[in-house]
Amino acid sequence: MAKGGMGFRKGIVFAFIAVIAAMLGCLFVLLSLVTVGAQDTGPGKTTGSTGIIVGFSQIGAESAWRKHNTLSVHEAAREKGIRLLYENAEQKRENQIKAIRSFIAYRVDVIAFAPLVADGWDNVLREAKEAGIPVLAVDRKLETSDESLYAGFIGTDSLEEGRNAARFIIKKFSSGAPYKRYRTEPIKIVEIAGTAGSSPALGRAEGFREGLAGHDNFEIIYSEDGDFLRSRGYEIANRILDEFPVIDVIYSHNDSMTLGLIDSMKEKGIRPGKDIVIVTIDAEQAAIDALRNGEVNCVIECNPKLGPAIMDLAIQLAEGKEIPRLLHVEEQVFTEDDPDLDSIPPRGY
Ligand code: AHR
Repeated sequence: MAKGGMGFRKGIVFAFIAVIAAMLGCLFVLLSLVTVGAQDTGPGKTTGSTGIIVGFSQIGAESAWRKHNTLSVHEAAREKGIRLLYENAEQKRENQIKAIRSFIAYRVDVIAFAPLVADGWDNVLREAKEAGIPVLAVDRKLETSDESLYAGFIGTDSLEEGRNAARFIIKKFSSGAPYKRYRTEPIKIVEIAGTAGSSPALGRAEGFREGLAGHDNFEIIYSEDGDFLRSRGYEIANRILDEFPVIDVIYSHNDSMTLGLIDSMKEKGIRPGKDIVIVTIDAEQAAIDALRNGEVNCVIECNPKLGPAIMDLAIQLAEGKEIPRLLHVEEQVFTEDDPDLDSIPPRGY
């Protein structure tokens, strides 16, 4: 009897401990989500005066462009009184899916995310839709089987960026000298592309080819995915500069990769911007400086300052309003032909 009574009491104690542990577990998950929002909003306080909560899933921190984009989102949220839950996916789609699920569980008002690659989001977007949470695609575009799975897109026009790269090259080589080969054989172009399957890599490649179409005097002799990383730009350049006896132009999908390839060219005694024409996208300060000192020939802007527009759209969505399906931000092209490169204001990234 006494033994049986002890066992019963032990059982109750264990059950009690298990319930407390489960409750503590739930509390921990909840608190960690709250602190993710609080910690990552950067210096200063997020007042959250609008009462709106936005979950933002960023791709990573692969470039100065990306870091500035993250900063812009944080600053805008703070300025507009929006509470931000921020997650960095460290270049992994599965991390972005996990982050979006956590935002759904937290019941944020709006989800904004920069999709690493264009496809593979249907399931998680359907979950957000079923939970009644509008999703805004930012910076990179999405491909879905059902357009109603997200509210809209705000970002840059990567097709146009690619077309602008082609326009510059056509104009530069149309003048003939000093590229005499132009008259007898095609200009040889190498493309260092961004992350495979990402909308900017797809758009910049497509727009470039579209721009060159009908101009037989240009030939893309090689293209490789450099994942938007400086280290990959360096690595690829190291290899191709030895492999191809003649390269007239390198078209690089972002400045980080360009800076890497410039390092490699210099090590090999090749003069960037002179021996090989360099066209790059983003317009980071370092690329503008390289344009000024003649190491880059054309810089196409990709604007990372999307924060204020994202927050304005998020407010409209949280209020149940419709937003435009597609919004492109304004961008400029800077070239060696610009009369006053010194007057370009500091880029901030
Ligand atoms: O999606 C925009 C691209 O991603 C930028 O060109 C690049 O620098 C970034 O990492």
